[in-house]
Amino acid sequence: MPTHEVIKNKNGTTSLRELKSGEVMHSSVGPREEATLLYIEQSRLKARLLEKGAGELVLWDVGLGAATNALAAMQCRLEQAGLEARPLRILSFENDISGLRLALEHSRDFPFFEGLTSAAAGLLGAKSWQSPGGEILWQLFEGDFHAHAPNCAAPELIFFDFYSPKTVPELWNIATFELLHRACSSRQAKRLGTTLYTYSASTRVRVALLLAGFYVGYGRNTGAKNDTTVAATRLEDLEKPLDARWLERLERSHEPFPHDWNGGGRTEVNTLVRRHKQFG
Ligand SMILES: C[S@@+](CC[C@H](N)C(=O)[O-])C[C@H]1O[C@@H](n2cnc3c(N)ncnc32)[C@H](O)[C@@H]1O
Repeated sequence: MPTHEVIKNKNGTTSLRELKSGEVMHSSVGPREEATLLYIEQSRLKARLLEKGAGELVLWDVGLGAATNALAAMQCRLEQAGLEARPLRILSFENDISGLRLALEHSRDFPFFEGLTSAAAGLLGAKSWQSPGGEILWQLFEGDFHAHAPNCAAPELIFFDFYSPKTVPELWNIATFELLHRACSSRQAKRLGTTLYTYSASTRVRVALLLAGFYVGYGRNTGAKNDTTVAATRLEDLEKPLDARWLERLERSHEPFPHDWNGGGRTEVNTLVRRHKQFG
C-alpha cells in the first residue's frame, strides 16, 4: 500500500504528499528553496560551521521526511571542505521512512539528492552514514520522536519540521517543547545556546514554546509564508524577539491556547505569557 505520492508544485518543483493526512511535506516554494531560506540561511549554518574552536555542531533534524533539510545542511558542510570547518553531526528523527524511500526512488525529481543518494541510501540501510572525509556523521532515530529525544546528544540547532499542528497537535504542544527544552539543558548548563527554527507562526505554537521555557522570536519571510518562528534558550540568540505588538495580537487571538493547555481561560494564558522573562 503506497503511503506517499510525488506531487508537482505550480513553480515546477516536486514534493511529497502523505496520503493518510493529505499533508504536503514542503511549502509551495519547493523543498530546496524552503530548506535554504528557512533553515540553512536563517540559522547562519555556514558561519557557525566556520567558528573556531567550537567543536562538533550537533543539529537535530526533527521530521526527516524526504531529507531535504538534512541534505541541505550536509551540502553546506561539504562546501566548506578545506576550511577547517567544524564536524557536523545530524540526528534525524522519523517514524515513517517510506517517504524518504519514495523520494530516493524518484531522486531525479528531487535535485537536492545530487551527489548524496548514497548517503541517503546508507542512512536507510545502516541507520547511520559517515562522509568519506569523516566531517559529517548522519544518524537516524527511527520511531516516535518523544521516545528518542531524551537520550540524544544536546542540539545546538533544531530544524523543527513536523506536519502541521492541525494534523499532529501532539507534536506542537507544551509537553513536546518542554521535552525539547530539557534536551538542551546540558548546553545551557555550560552557557551555550540552542536555537530552533520552524515554519509555523501560529499563536498557540508560540505560546506553547514560551510556556515550555524558550524565548521566542519572529522568523523570516520564506516566500510561501510571511512569518515563521525562531525560538532559543538564550534571549541574545534571537534577532527579533516577540514584542508588545505580538502581545496585543495574542489578546485578540481566537486561538491563544496551546493544544495541551488546561490552565484556565484567556486571562490566565495572557497573564502567564506576560510574566515570561522575555517580556519582563
Ligand atoms: C513535514 S515532514 C518533514 C520534511 C523534512 N524535514 C524534509 O526536509 O523533507 C514531517 C515528517 O515527520 C514525520 N513524523 C510525524 N510524526 C512523527 C513522530 N511522532 N516522530 C518522528 N517523526 C514523525 C513524518 O512521517 C514526516 O516524514
